[in-house]
Amino acid sequence: MQLPTTLQSLLLLPILPLTALAQQRACNNAPSLCSTPYNSLTHLGAHDSPFVRDGSTSFSTSGNQFYNSTVQLEAGVRLLSAQVHSSADGTWRLCHSSCDLLDAGTLSDWLGEVKGFLDGNPDEVVTVLLVNSDGATAADLRGEYAAAGVEGYAYQPQQGGAQGGGEWPTLGEMVGSGKRLVSFVASLEDNTGAAYLLNEFDYVFENSFENSQFSDFSCAPDRPASVSGSASEAVSSGRMALMNHFLYQDQAFGIQSPDVGNLTTTNAPGNATGNLGLHLGRCTREYGVQPTFVLVDFFNVGPAIEAVDSANGVASPVGRRSVPNRVLTEESESSAAAGANAAFRRWSLALVAVVLGYAVCR
Ligand SMILES: *[C@@H]1O[C@H](CO)[C@@H](O)[C@H](O)[C@H]1NC(C)=O
Ligand SMILES: *[C@@H]1O[C@H](CO)[C@@H](O)[C@H](O)[C@H]1NC(C)=O
Ligand SMILES: *[C@@H]1O[C@H](CO)[C@@H](O)[C@H](O)[C@H]1NC(C)=O
Repeated sequence: MQLPTTLQSLLLLPILPLTALAQQRACNNAPSLCSTPYNSLTHLGAHDSPFVRDGSTSFSTSGNQFYNSTVQLEAGVRLLSAQVHSSADGTWRLCHSSCDLLDAGTLSDWLGEVKGFLDGNPDEVVTVLLVNSDGATAADLRGEYAAAGVEGYAYQPQQGGAQGGGEWPTLGEMVGSGKRLVSFVASLEDNTGAAYLLNEFDYVFENSFENSQFSDFSCAPDRPASVSGSASEAVSSGRMALMNHFLYQDQAFGIQSPDVGNLTTTNAPGNATGNLGLHLGRCTREYGVQPTFVLVDFFNVGPAIEAVDSANGVASPVGRRSVPNRVLTEESESSAAAGANAAFRRWSLALVAVVLGYAVCR
């Protein structure tokens, strides 16, 4: 049965019109998106992308994702947000609030990871959103981009910010030009010397992000202050909407951590209270256009990408890595091979501790 089918497709191939062949190319996992302007589709974003809650961080409660940035991209995430901090040793690092809490390595190493994905996936457009926590200058950040060898991919708009009238190329055009990495920085007033580093709020508006109840989710523009509270002003300014859709859970001593307990509701594609699908539909109606970006925690649960595919009219995405639609815990992973390794490491550490303790006691 297989041979005739193969023969059939081989015979059909030469008579397919060239346009049909061209349409076979998929941008951001879907052929239909190649002709869609960058700002007219919804890009799934991983909030605090490098901060992973898995064996590598001993399932840190500061982690916002169960899978690392590479897996996120392979699974269809197209916006990665990260916090950039200066560290005592003079490097620029990705740390969660403080480098003592969770340190995910240098910015240049992480950008190198993004470059690895871009190298291997020539039809994909990726966006990074750097939260500039310690005031890195354009020169500082440019140094990291250069060290990662990723400057060649960096997209630079023809016109600056909202003054550009919201005109963006299609994904296909960006892929064709090779400029497939869009970089927003919050904030960077002066990008002299690195025009591809875009001051986020010149291009983007956001709803509020500090939510701990489903009822807190709102579509009202919150930042920048110039368009706060007015969806019509925010949209007509030419800025793209970034919809934050994740919850914090209050812990002891005023500490907040990502809310894992309600994730299956928060990230669900449906229309029930708290669902990503409901919020995305509501913001689309309020703005008159679909949000260009949605930012979620633990993207694999929901799965969050289902609501985004639906917003983009993508029914059969191609070329994505599949990830389990579930919460990962130390217990759930201990049966897996990776978990076994982590357990082995813990046992080794315990053994070292015992040996050291023995040595000290002597
Ligand atoms: C990301 O995670 C995958 C799967 O666990 C692993 O194979 C890969 O080495 C990781 N990549 C980085 C850069 O840590
Ligand atoms: C999240 O779940 C917990 C119990 O699992 C519940 O007490 C809390 O109200 C939920 N949060 C929201 C926003 O519904
Ligand atoms: C949610 O509601 C919208 C608008 O009413 C509809 O288009 C969409 O299919 C619904 N989604 C689900 C998953 O039911």
